[in-house]
Amino acid sequence: MATNITFTMIKPDAVEANNIGPILAMINKAGFKIKAMKYLSLSKEQAGNFYAVHKERPFYGELVDYMSSGPLVAVVLEKNNAVADFRTLIGATDPSKAADGTIRKLFAKSIAANAVHGSDSDENAAIEANFFFSGLERP
Ligand code: RTP
Ligand code: MG
Repeated sequence: MATNITFTMIKPDAVEANNIGPILAMINKAGFKIKAMKYLSLSKEQAGNFYAVHKERPFYGELVDYMSSGPLVAVVLEKNNAVADFRTLIGATDPSKAADGTIRKLFAKSIAANAVHGSDSDENAAIEANFFFSGLERP
């Protein structure tokens, strides 16, 4: 069943470049509501678990090192059609291919250090939100 929740991280490169505020402003302006938010660092083990789906990919080691290299901001977002609309807002994984006006076009440094994460399905949005937050379903 489709939900109206997606999950994002403002990745270490964007935090280091002081772009938390500008990125959250773009997210709010695009109509997303912040439902939960946390500033934290991931250990290598935690980053590896989060991206376990990419374990066999050649960039997995680099990805885990990068995602545990500094603090990030984990955010649960709400909007109609949240997953697809957020992927549109952030743009392509490789910032050189991202459309003008997208978050990655504006803020990403490289394909690895690409400023933000966005869930790729409703199912993964729920799994990823639960990785960082608990009790979201409670009143
Ligand atoms: P994300 O999961 O972070 O929102 O990114 P995505 O869906 O656009 O891309 P995905 O294929 O899920 O890849 C996850 C993250 O791995 C890094 N990556 N590096 N060096 C490379 O070729 C490469 N390819 C992917 C990126 O940080 C990407 O966001
Ligand atoms: Mg992905």
